[in-house]
Amino acid sequence: ISAAIFASGSGSNAEAIVQASELPCTIQLLVCDKPEAPVISKAKEWDAEVFVCDPKTFEDKQAYEQAILTKLQEKHIEWIFLAGYMRLIGPTLLEAYPERILNIHPSLLPAFAGKDAIGQALSAGVKVSGVTIHFVDAGMDTGNIIAQEAVPVLEEDTHHTLHQRIQAIEHRLYPETISYILKERDRKE
Ligand code: GRF
Repeated sequence: ISAAIFASGSGSNAEAIVQASELPCTIQLLVCDKPEAPVISKAKEWDAEVFVCDPKTFEDKQAYEQAILTKLQEKHIEWIFLAGYMRLIGPTLLEAYPERILNIHPSLLPAFAGKDAIGQALSAGVKVSGVTIHFVDAGMDTGNIIAQEAVPVLEEDTHHTLHQRIQAIEHRLYPETISYILKERDRKE
């Protein structure tokens, strides 16, 4: 099974997926929308093609996603894992990959969807936040939930310390959930 990761930032989750042992798929492609993103240099160490695709260089979102889709098809990609990809997925990719795009979000959805979920949790004063892995639909962090894990928010937490505690969970939960869902799908098909 061949898969692609989409990322816009540091790529620590992408790296955790690539380095996971016994994953039932191979990461063949990294798609990145930000030419300066640190994930690009990380991905040069992997056995995957790096496809930097800057939306600013396309007429509209449809043309941008079509360019990505052409690349995905050329590489026979079957699954897409979003890992800090800071854009909504549009109809071009959603229709080509129904129930085959996953995302990870640093909160217990539906709480704190959208940007800076960690800052949102700290401002709200909640005592528990967490990590969610879900299927991607047209909304912002709204698709069907596959896995969640709670993370305590401590009195003395800063953005940095809470982020670190959440990321430690993310790096284990994302590869675990990918394995689970791919095996499930394989059993059903
Ligand atoms: C993660 O916290 C993920 O939940 C969110 O974006 C962040 C990406 O971090 N969607 P990284 O680039 O994987 O380090």
